[in-house]
Amino acid sequence: MDKIKVLYTEEEIAARVKELAEILYETYKDEEVVFVCTLKGAVFFACDLLKRFKGDGRLEFLRVSSYEGESSTGKISLKMPLDAEKINGKHVVIVEDIVDTGYTLEYIRKYVSDMHPKSLIECTLLDKKARRVVEIDPTYSGFVIEDLFVVGYGLDYDQKYRNLPYIGVVVKE
Ligand code: IMP
Repeated sequence: MDKIKVLYTEEEIAARVKELAEILYETYKDEEVVFVCTLKGAVFFACDLLKRFKGDGRLEFLRVSSYEGESSTGKISLKMPLDAEKINGKHVVIVEDIVDTGYTLEYIRKYVSDMHPKSLIECTLLDKKARRVVEIDPTYSGFVIEDLFVVGYGLDYDQKYRNLPYIGVVVKE
């Protein structure tokens, strides 16, 4: 097992997720909101966010892929589509684990907006702003981080470390 340096503890993540859920509730109150969780990385975040959201939250899943190892290929492919009927005319929140170059979020935003939601925003847990290639700024982000490759709380390195309850950086020995 590699050593992992903790960046955000379980408690710090939980506190920030609660704040984000409250912000979202202030935005939508009791209107129906569809949270679109991007698999697999955002699954822990989306579930916790939904558990803390006091309004009428629905959950849909979407899967795209762009990453191999530690680098984004920039070529996004759709692995699991959304049902357009669940999006059309609804308030939608795209829930992402991390925005890096921005290619993935740009692709998802276009894909979802073509289904004509009533409104569309993005909520990412992590934002690596300094790495952005595409001009895209998620509506809400949990933490803005430096250019580090992070794992845990759903985020993986070649499918490893998703199950860590905290977010950390792999320290190569
Ligand atoms: P982007 O298209 O470059 O913005 O990359 C977004 C996707 O790449 C995310 O949804 C993650 O799946 C993955 N990714 C980017 N940075 C990291 C990281 O530091 N750790 C794990 N996955 C990452």
